[in-house]
Amino acid sequence: MSNSPIRRAAIFGASGGIGAAIASALEARGAETLRFGRSGPLPFDLTDEASIATAAERAGEVDFVFVATGMLHAPGIAPEKSVAAIAPEALAASFALNAIGPALIAKHMLPRLPRKGRAVFAALSARVGSIEDNRLGGWHGYRASKAALNMLIRGFSIELARRNREALAVALHPGTVDTALSKPFQASAPKGLFTSEESAARLLAVLDGLGPAETGGFYAHDGAAIPF
Ligand SMILES: NC(=O)c1ccc[n+]([C@@H]2O[C@H](COP(=O)([O-])OP(=O)(O)OC[C@H]3O[C@@H](n4cnc5c(N)ncnc54)[C@H](OP(=O)(O)O)[C@@H]3O)[C@@H](O)[C@H]2O)c1
Repeated sequence: MSNSPIRRAAIFGASGGIGAAIASALEARGAETLRFGRSGPLPFDLTDEASIATAAERAGEVDFVFVATGMLHAPGIAPEKSVAAIAPEALAASFALNAIGPALIAKHMLPRLPRKGRAVFAALSARVGSIEDNRLGGWHGYRASKAALNMLIRGFSIELARRNREALAVALHPGTVDTALSKPFQASAPKGLFTSEESAARLLAVLDGLGPAETGGFYAHDGAAIPF
């Protein structure tokens, strides 16, 4: 269990539904919270490494990094219903935004975590990125890019443990949450819909309960480990 309070946090994707709620919850806990977004005073773009490097410099040393960015649909991009719908540009965009962008944030932010004491790097993945759990098919680009993200985080967690044995790098599933990202698909949501605030509270409670032994894992909003 975590017993050290979060001092300084960097939220990437703080304009998003879940990202904004995570930032507000951390502020309510008294953490100094830096809200990085595509626009606003602390800008970055997932597709522009130089902007991420600049954001990281502005962040300085932080003990908590939360990556709340992601893409399921965009103008001209919808989740594929079948292999026939595979389009290289859409697949490339899914990987750029869901896997490569968060990996670049890790590249520039992991060195900014302290070498001693509790430190957290968490990124929002999605349960549908579990390879073992995939029994429905479809959503190929989103699923594959989240599976790639999960693997990247597992690898980074191994390096991070060499830097700081108390540090944690994990992927999280937020549940189905009422945001712009899920809007077109909410009717087919298997279970209830969370508000962003509910999801953020659950995710922060999950992180509070994780220790170094759990680093590299993939966890749902109820704390359960999700198979890769
Ligand atoms: N909502 C759900 O039901 C659900 C379920 C499972 C997993 N997730 C995951 O949770 C994460 C957050 O999703 P959300 O539901 O909060 O969606 P959201 O409200 O649409 O937020 C997405 C965030 O990603 C940012 N973003 C997109 N492209 C970017 C880029 N090129 N550069 C920088 N930022 C960029 C958006 O910035 P702008 O505001 O500038 O567009 C926004 O802050 C995603 O990874 C998603 O896959 C969500």
